Amino acid sequence: MATKRIGVLTSGGDCPGLNAVLRAVVRAAENLGWEVLGFHDGYEGLLPEGGDYVILDRATTAGIMHLGGTMIGTTNRGHFAAKVRAGERAAIPDEIIQQARRTFDHLRLDALVAIGGDGSLTTALQMSEAGFPMIGVPKTIDNDLEATAMTFGFDSAVNCVADALDRLHTTATSHKRVMVLEVMGRHAGWIALYGGLAGGADIILIPEIPFDMEKVAEHVRERERQGAKSTMIVVAEGASQKNGKQSRHQTAVGEYRLGGIGEQVGHEVIERTGKDTRVCVLGHLQRGGAPTALDRILGTRFGVQAVQLIKEGRFGTMVSYQNYETRAVPIAHAVHRLRRVDANGQMMQTARAVGSVFGD
Ligand code: F6P
Repeated sequence: MATKRIGVLTSGGDCPGLNAVLRAVVRAAENLGWEVLGFHDGYEGLLPEGGDYVILDRATTAGIMHLGGTMIGTTNRGHFAAKVRAGERAAIPDEIIQQARRTFDHLRLDALVAIGGDGSLTTALQMSEAGFPMIGVPKTIDNDLEATAMTFGFDSAVNCVADALDRLHTTATSHKRVMVLEVMGRHAGWIALYGGLAGGADIILIPEIPFDMEKVAEHVRERERQGAKSTMIVVAEGASQKNGKQSRHQTAVGEYRLGGIGEQVGHEVIERTGKDTRVCVLGHLQRGGAPTALDRILGTRFGVQAVQLIKEGRFGTMVSYQNYETRAVPIAHAVHRLRRVDANGQMMQTARAVGSVFGD
């Protein structure tokens, strides 16, 4: 097989396991005698004259698998960050696509692997439709992509939530307090549900099940009557009360961010029960730090599969994980399809069976 030269980039929010993917892409490519260029800061690295990249090889990617973040940088801003609403298509300006094409041709690349979430994969789709030989690799701690049963980064985030609950539990119990832990996940409750279940949370509030604050308060009172020493509440950043709105705030640069529902729930618990209550927002701790072993393995499998797809010439596809195997799905079938928690699914039934309350 002729020597190939492939590009790889990490785009959108970072997540644990990205370096494991990079390392795997490099090793699998080198085994085929190919060269790998890692573009800095996502698609932005394609724009400067000649490209902004680093040569990735065994030496430069040695010892990175256990590190969080991404060694080549990422961004969810910049020229390729087209914000889209559900059902809409991102539209990267043509001159940006043309500039990327000049870099691509100048460097004589045979393929480009884009590792990213829904927004970054939408860009990959547009580039694929413009003729770039693209391979997508899905990434998000939120685990909310319909086209893959799991994304790397999710398990690390869930472990972080479970660890936080373990720590909060000991202090809450000592003081006989209610503890509210706000976690990430955007419009899906996977991190809250898995993290809450693993950390033994008493109440789990997720976006898929709008909650009744009085039912939450009543469960806190009921636990008090039963002599419980603490009540642990996990609330997803995208959760909202019945007939209420998601809690979000505008940043200095005009973007909207989810967050603040933890404080609201904590305030309501105090008002309605009089219980001493504290709120903890876990934030970006969930995205930082070392990937779990599962995420290292999943990232490695995704990286190897991406190279395999290039070898087979299956451009315009994305690596997906189904039934314990990696496979390929068209990127077009993967974007804008959110996988949310099924309110009647087995995970929910399991959580309810062990006494978790969802405020419904
Ligand atoms: O999509 C991953 C995620 O961590 C969400 O859970 C969270 O809402 C968002 O990204 C935070 O993004 P940023 O890093 O831009 O604050």
